[in-house]
Amino acid sequence: MAMMNYFHCSIFIFFFLSKTAFSERCHPNDKKALLQIKKDLNTPPNSNLISSWDWDPLVDCCDWDNIVRCGGAANRIILFNLILADLNHLPIPAAVSDLEYLEELYLHSTNLTGEIPKQITKLTHLKYLDLRFNHLSGNIPSFLSRLQTLTSLDLSYNNFTGSIPASLSQLPNLDTLFLNRNKLTGEIPGSFSDFRQPKFYIDLSGNQLAGEIPSRLGNVDFQVIDVSRNRLVGDISFLFGKNKSLIYADFSRNLLEFDFSKVEYFPMSLSTLDLSHNRVTGRLPEALVESNIGRLNVSYNRLCGQIPVGGQLQELETTSFFHNMCLCGPPLLKKCK
Ligand SMILES: *[C@@H]1O[C@H](CO)[C@@H](O)[C@H](O)[C@H]1NC(C)=O
Ligand SMILES: *[C@@H]1O[C@H](CO)[C@@H](O)[C@H](O)[C@H]1NC(C)=O
Ligand SMILES: *[C@@H]1O[C@H](CO)[C@@H](O)[C@H](O)[C@H]1NC(C)=O
Ligand SMILES: *[C@@H]1O[C@H](CO)[C@@H](O)[C@H](O)[C@H]1NC(C)=O
Repeated sequence: MAMMNYFHCSIFIFFFLSKTAFSERCHPNDKKALLQIKKDLNTPPNSNLISSWDWDPLVDCCDWDNIVRCGGAANRIILFNLILADLNHLPIPAAVSDLEYLEELYLHSTNLTGEIPKQITKLTHLKYLDLRFNHLSGNIPSFLSRLQTLTSLDLSYNNFTGSIPASLSQLPNLDTLFLNRNKLTGEIPGSFSDFRQPKFYIDLSGNQLAGEIPSRLGNVDFQVIDVSRNRLVGDISFLFGKNKSLIYADFSRNLLEFDFSKVEYFPMSLSTLDLSHNRVTGRLPEALVESNIGRLNVSYNRLCGQIPVGGQLQELETTSFFHNMCLCGPPLLKKCK
């Protein structure tokens, strides 16, 4: 019995020590930075996703499983994750940029305020930067283009103002850009035609962007494009074409004005197309019959003529077509003369 207790006890001690200085894998520079972040945030932050194990200086920081991940032979911190924690309207802690091997930084839904600190450019291995659902403000800094390894940038649902920096197109690996639901003004930069990654995913919806979508963007291989709820004008038909990867396209609630009849091809991959609440004129293109668009909405425009017959068009709800100048034929009840 005593033997058993001794055995249990030593297992416990061994386990405890292995979690501490006994064989601490965490790099001292990383630990220092993490404890500075903790201090800057007056932690422990109020969140049920963080356990008492995390942030404990007596525990190997590679074991702070809910907030970090160590990687590589040197066990450097490659991921820092603090989501759904109420950080009490504090700014982004500058010490985050001392986690110099960081590849993924997730600070979403944490009530952060202030601007993106310039020190963030020290994170030269960063691939994912996710700051969505905060109260961040100021301009989207052009220095973000120095994060050359970035593949995904999510600044959505914040309070950013000013125009979109053209320099973002200098991020050679970027394939995902979410700037939706901010207060961005100005035009979509023509430099965005330089985005070279296939299947690009862009969401700029819910801002105050104006002007035309630069026609050079017809060169980008978009898979998802959402520019709804802005003040964009002009023509977007150059974004269609047989050989594109487009799956989802939302242009609704803008001031777009072009002749829809002249569109000859839709990408076969396209399944959702929303053009509602614009000033689109002409007829619905015959190419819609051959397309795979299962979710089409052209309501609240200035379209005319018979809805082409075939494909999935007659199976769509009437609200997909209502409030136009003179669209007629099924599924609308209005007969063509
Ligand atoms: C952010 O702050 C508001 C009010 O200050 C609070 O209601 C909300 O829960 C906070 N968000 C998070 C994710 O804790
Ligand atoms: C955005 O900024 C305005 C003005 O400073 C402020 O009133 C508003 O609460 C902020 N909104 C968010 C979501 O932070
Ligand atoms: C689409 O691609 C095929 C082969 O990849 C090519 O032959 C055709 O010309 C292209 N069509 C258009 C409209 O670019
Ligand atoms: C089409 O868009 C209009 C306007 O936003 C909306 O009222 C309607 O419900 C939509 N119809 C479908 C089928 O999505």
